[in-house]
Amino acid sequence: MMLVHTVNEVREQVKKWRSEGLSVGLVPTMGFLHEGHQSLIAASVKENDRTVVSIFVNPTQFGPNEDFEAYPRDIKKDMALCDETGADLIFNPEPEEMYPDGFCTYTNITGMSDALCGKSRPIHFKGVCTVVSKLFNIVCPDMAYFGEKDAQQLAIIKRMVKDMNIPIEIKGCPIVREADGLAKSSRNTYLSASEREAALILSKAIFAGRDMVKAGERDAKKVVEAMTEIIKSEPLAAIDYVEMVDVETMQSIDVIEGNILCAIAVKIGKTRLIDNFNDIIHQASP
Ligand code: PAJ
Repeated sequence: MMLVHTVNEVREQVKKWRSEGLSVGLVPTMGFLHEGHQSLIAASVKENDRTVVSIFVNPTQFGPNEDFEAYPRDIKKDMALCDETGADLIFNPEPEEMYPDGFCTYTNITGMSDALCGKSRPIHFKGVCTVVSKLFNIVCPDMAYFGEKDAQQLAIIKRMVKDMNIPIEIKGCPIVREADGLAKSSRNTYLSASEREAALILSKAIFAGRDMVKAGERDAKKVVEAMTEIIKSEPLAAIDYVEMVDVETMQSIDVIEGNILCAIAVKIGKTRLIDNFNDIIHQASP
């Protein structure tokens, strides 16, 4: 497995693979990899001849009071995980390589990026779309892999690819959870022991909401209220949002029908965590 830091090195290697007729998968990450990232890498390794993993804590997607500086980094451990999962190349650029002096071009998506996480993180998706479109142009993969853990991000990337005619197939991969239900996240390392315990309230609420929908509940408000009550029962939890939306538009819905996304963001102490469930509901219950 190779570790490279510059755009040119990635381009040279991908060009070589292309000349041999090999297909290429891309897994964009910010590093501090865990089994969630690993599932994306494994899917890419399975479906492509070569897999590129990008590891880049992207400054443009963090707001001024967010955790860019504190974001955990461990390139040695990440390299070992990529290697054992079968990745072929890690692209680990410095911020100056991605955003050289004078950089002033951004990829922005409207509407969908104002909802859910976009409300409390107004510049977040502009930064995500900018870095992801740059990575797409640098690597030119056949397929790119994103987790359903960040459901709004996945929907936005799918829309961006469609709108901008980017010839890359976007693959969504299921949420990987800890044994007790907490969705795996690089940010879980911020949690103290008591906060880690309290963080279970997210998956508890998600599973309860999912069960209500499975049992036939079609009133979005009722599900959101029940989930809100569960989260409020945890003293360390502060709700950012609990919402039921249409997965394509990210607009709130009243009736649970079609491709729905139920997403939550909750602060446990200072750590903001997200979780969701996504379902396709074919018909209203009688
Ligand atoms: P990061 O948070 O490192 O996540 C990289 C990818 O791993 C994302 O597609 C995310 O949805 C997926 N992922 C994270 N935790 C997961 C879990 N528990 N189960 C399944 N997939 C999981 O998301 C980003 O980085 C950045 O915004 C990025 C797309 C790299 C752009 O900078």
